Amino acid sequence: MEKIILTGDRPTGRLHLGHYVGSLKRRVELQNSGEFDKVYIMIADAQALTDNFDNPEKVRQNIIEVALDYLSVGLDPEKSTLFIQSQIPQLTELSFYYMNLVTVARVQRNPTVKNEILQKNFEASIPVGFFCYPISQAADITAFKATVVPVGEDQLPMLEQTKEIVRKFNSIYGEALVEPDIMLPDNTVCRRLPGTDGKAKMSKSIGNCINLADDAETVRQKVMNMYTDPTHIKVSDPGHLEGNTVFTYLDAFSRPEHFEMYLPDYSNLQELKDHYTRGGLGDVKIKKFLNSILQAELEPIRAHRKEYEKDIAAVYEILRKGSEKARAVAESTLQDVKNAMKINYFSDTELIKAQAEKYKG
Ligand code: TRP
Repeated sequence: MEKIILTGDRPTGRLHLGHYVGSLKRRVELQNSGEFDKVYIMIADAQALTDNFDNPEKVRQNIIEVALDYLSVGLDPEKSTLFIQSQIPQLTELSFYYMNLVTVARVQRNPTVKNEILQKNFEASIPVGFFCYPISQAADITAFKATVVPVGEDQLPMLEQTKEIVRKFNSIYGEALVEPDIMLPDNTVCRRLPGTDGKAKMSKSIGNCINLADDAETVRQKVMNMYTDPTHIKVSDPGHLEGNTVFTYLDAFSRPEHFEMYLPDYSNLQELKDHYTRGGLGDVKIKKFLNSILQAELEPIRAHRKEYEKDIAAVYEILRKGSEKARAVAESTLQDVKNAMKINYFSDTELIKAQAEKYKG
């Protein structure tokens, strides 16, 4: 069986470091590993509209931002198909048939949906479109016969929902769909990188993100203002690592060679942590270290972005071509699905013959 990747993001803002360590970096590695027959990366604008239906302009404006972020981290249109969800009408058609296989109660139990309903104060008036997005996500994944879906931990319930739909479809109509596996980041700190304010998650709406497109000075300021340990007041005070954002980021980003390059007084992260908890190590020093690491990681991404920004029309062209390619693949799956469901009246000569037989005098 072919090894196929599908994943994507909602275009509601620029992508940030949470996306980067949680998913983007891995995608590029997978793309370049040569282990996959096909890689599809989708800008999920239709899904973004399920909770931004009143602000389509926001979604529209952010398509190019996400595309630039994709290209600048190293997703390569020669190796990966980059496309826009709404340009693939077959996904909507698949969703419609999958809706029959899912109960309202089942979607209501989906923890991601539950959370989002609370966050968006949708309790009293859940839009049907929003409620159905886990089903549409199953369409996204199965349309490309994806075997592997690299996403963040918050997407786990979506993958479970997809697997259920695949099993139910295949058991009722015959094996037409492929059951996908989720691929989570190996490094657990990367699974849920906190915001710079120490809050649970980076979120565009809270404004606690470091964006991939932030300039060097903005990144530096965000790092210098990061939440650390409020009880670590004097340098001599013992510091705490628990909930200390700077150390969480070091867990996610620092590598042994960074110490040699930027902080040769320490040979590894454990030594730095030990000194911090003992007392006598100031926050500024570790923040500067983190800043050096992040700048080194982000600089090539920024430079790459600058290049693509020079020819925006070419970026739209990449998306147009990708969408065309994706449409053909989704169409082929849709035909498989309709054949399995026997919604293929005009190409089913047996059916026509049998019906004619029945009505013959
Ligand atoms: N739900 C994902 C997000 O919130 C975006 C998405 C839509 C997706 N369809 C997908 C991710 C299919 C992986 C596979 O960012």
